[in-house]
Amino acid sequence: MIRFENVSKVYKHNAVIENMNLDIGKGELVVLIGPSGCGKTTTLKMINRLVKPTSGKIYIDGTDTEERDIIELRRTMGYVIQQTGLFPHMTVKENIEIIPRLEKRDHQKIEARTIELMKMIGLNPDEFLYRYPTQLSGGQLQRIGVARAFATDPEIILMDEPFSALDPISRSQLQIELVGLQAQLKKTIVFVTHDMDEAIKIADKICILHKGQIVQYDTPENILKNPANEYVSDFVGKNRIWSTPELIKARDIMITSPIKSTDGISLLKCIELMRFNKVDSVLVVDDENRMIGIVTARMIQLEKDRTKSISEIMRTEFLSAGPEDSIVDLLKTVQEKKISYIPVLDENKVLLGLITTTSLVTTLSQQFIGLDEEGES
Ligand SMILES: Nc1ncnc2c1ncn2[C@@H]1O[C@H](COP(=O)(O)OP(=O)(O)OP(=O)(O)O)[C@@H](O)[C@H]1O
Ligand SMILES: [Mg+2]
Repeated sequence: MIRFENVSKVYKHNAVIENMNLDIGKGELVVLIGPSGCGKTTTLKMINRLVKPTSGKIYIDGTDTEERDIIELRRTMGYVIQQTGLFPHMTVKENIEIIPRLEKRDHQKIEARTIELMKMIGLNPDEFLYRYPTQLSGGQLQRIGVARAFATDPEIILMDEPFSALDPISRSQLQIELVGLQAQLKKTIVFVTHDMDEAIKIADKICILHKGQIVQYDTPENILKNPANEYVSDFVGKNRIWSTPELIKARDIMITSPIKSTDGISLLKCIELMRFNKVDSVLVVDDENRMIGIVTARMIQLEKDRTKSISEIMRTEFLSAGPEDSIVDLLKTVQEKKISYIPVLDENKVLLGLITTTSLVTTLSQQFIGLDEEGES
C-alpha cells in the first residue's frame, strides 16, 4: 500500500533520513517509534508530501506520489497532528465537516457520517457538535482530531503523536478505541509515538528508527522477543515482555519433543518407554503425527493384561492448546482444570509440543531471575 524506496531527506548538509526502505501493507497499523529528532515526523510528512524527499521514491498502491496532484493526494489521507489543529473559530461539526464540504459531498451524507464518527469516538453528538474547541478538554479535542481524520473515509491515516498530551487514562481509552476503529474500518494507519507501551498495544508492526535509519521493523511480539541489537533492547526495556505476557505463546515455551508413540505398541512396551525416558505419560499419535490419545502410568497399572495395545486403554478425550495460545490462557487452563500438562496441537491436530507445569514455572521464574540481573524492578 505504502512503499518507501531508497528514500533520503537532507536539510542543508544534515541527512535526517538515510536510504529508507519500508513497506506498509493495506489495512496495517504501523507505529513509527524512536527518540526525539530521529525522523519520525519527517517520515510521516513525506507520505503526504508535506516534506519532499531529497532522493528516492514513495509509492502508494504502486503509483509514485510525485506523479499525483498534491491536493488530491492529501485528500486521500487523514492527518492527525499532535496539537489537533482544530480551527478555534469553528464548531466541532464545522471542523469535522470541513474537508467533505470542500469536496462538495452530499450534505445529508456528510451529516450522517459526522454523527456516526461522533459515536465512534464516544462523544454524544447532541452535546458536543455545536461546541467550540475552547469548550472541550484535551482528550475531547484529540478525539475530534481523530474523527476529522476519518471524516472523508480515507484509505490512509497518518497520526503524529495524537495522544501525547493526554493523561494516562484517557490515553489508554483512546488507544483501545483506535484499535477497535482499526479492526472495524481496516484503514492503513501510520502512527508516530515515543511511547513503547502505546506501540505494543496498538501496532500490527513497529518500525524503530534511530538517527534517520530503520533499526528494526517487525511485529511487537518479534521485537520484544528478538530485538535486532542492543539499541532496540535498550529502547524496548529488557523486561518489557512481562508487562505483556499475552505475547508469550505456547510455541515459545513448549517442549518440542515430548515422549510419544503410535497406537500399535503394547502396554509392556509403553512401560519401557516411560521408564527409559523417566516420564509418567505418553502421547499417542497416528502415522501423520496427529494426536489421538494419551496413556499414563496409572492407567497401565490398573490394567492387568499387559499384552493389550495402548489403543485399547488410551484416553481419547484430552485438553489441548494451540501454538498461539498465550501463557495467560495456559495458566488459566492449568489452574481451572487442575492438569499438569497440555499438548500443543496445530489446527489439524498434529502434535507440535507439550506444555508441562514445570515448563510454565520455569518460564515464569525467568521473570524474577531477569530482574535480579538488572538489579532493579
Ligand atoms: N525544516 C527543517 N529544516 C532543517 N532541519 C529539520 C527540519 N525539520 C526537521 N529537521 C531536523 O530533522 C530531524 C528529524 O526531525 P523530525 O521532526 O522528523 O523528528 P522526530 O523524530 O519527529 O522528533 P520528535 O520526536 O521530537 O517529534 C531533526 O534533527 C530536526 O531538527
Ligand atoms: Mg515529531
